[in-house]
Amino acid sequence: MPVVPTQQIVEEAFRERYGVAAINVVNDLTMEAVLSAAEELRAPIIVQTSVKTVKSIGADVLIAMWRAMVDRTSVPAALHLDHCPEREVISLCLEKGWNSVLFDGSKLSVEENKRQTIEVVAEARRHGALVEGEIEAFKRVEEMADDEQAGEQGLETALDFIRSTQVDVYAPAIGNAHGMYTTTPKLDNQRVTDIVEATGIPVALHGGTGMTADQFSDLIARGCAKVNISTALKIAFIQSGYDYVTAHPTEYDPPKLFVAQRAAVLEMAKEHISRFGAQGRAW
Ligand code: 13P
Repeated sequence: MPVVPTQQIVEEAFRERYGVAAINVVNDLTMEAVLSAAEELRAPIIVQTSVKTVKSIGADVLIAMWRAMVDRTSVPAALHLDHCPEREVISLCLEKGWNSVLFDGSKLSVEENKRQTIEVVAEARRHGALVEGEIEAFKRVEEMADDEQAGEQGLETALDFIRSTQVDVYAPAIGNAHGMYTTTPKLDNQRVTDIVEATGIPVALHGGTGMTADQFSDLIARGCAKVNISTALKIAFIQSGYDYVTAHPTEYDPPKLFVAQRAAVLEMAKEHISRFGAQGRAW
C-alpha cells in the first residue's frame, strides 16, 4: 500500500474511536520493527521522528529508508515529524515527503505561536500534510510536581488557538509527561472531551509510555485518535541490547544483537497497537 496521508489515518481512527499508535523510531532497525508490528496486526500506524533523529540520520537518508520500507508494507502508514520548534526543519521535512508535522511553538507566547502555526498550516496544506499544534510544553516526568495536573492555559485559549490556526490535530497538556511515570499519572480526561466537543478535531495523546490500559481506553473513547509512544521504544531497544551483550559478553556479532533488539521493539509496538484497539483495522 502506498503511504496514506496522516489525515486519513487519524480521521478514520477518530470516527471509529480507536487509537493509532504514533511511535518514535530512532534508526532503520526500529523503523522496520514498528512497521512490521503494524503489518502483523493489520493495523494502521504512524511512524514518528524527532528533530534529533532527523539531524543525526539526515532527512534524505530517513525518507529513502522510509520509502523502501513502506513500499513493502500493506497497511496504512504515515511519517510524522514530532515536536519541532525549528521552522527550517519543518520546511525540509515537508519538502522531502513527511506526511505530517507537530509545530512546537509552546515556548513562544500564545499569540506568536498562533501566528507561526497559521504559516505552518498554509505551508503544510501545499504539501497535502497534516499539522498538529500545541500551546503548552510537555514536561518530562522528572520535572512534574506531585500534584501537577492539566496545562497552564485555559480551555478558551486552547479553543481559540485551534479555531484560528485550523490545525488538524491538537495536543493538550492533561497532566501527561514524556518519560517513564513513577506512579500512575493523574490525567484531566474531561479536557479531551471539552476540546473534542467544542472543535470536532481529534486529539493527540502525548506521554503514552506508562499509562494504564484503562487510561488509554477512556481517552481514546473521548477522541485521542493519535497516541504517542517514545520512551517505551527506547527502553525496549536499549534494555534488549544490554541484556544481549550481558548474556554474550565475548560474541562480537552485531547482526545477532540486532535480532534481539528487533524482537524486543516489535513486541513493544505490538503490545501498544493492540492496547489501542487498532489491530485488524487496516483498510
Ligand atoms: P513518551 O516518551 O512518554 O512515550 O511520550 C511520547 C511522546 O509524547 C512523543 O511526543
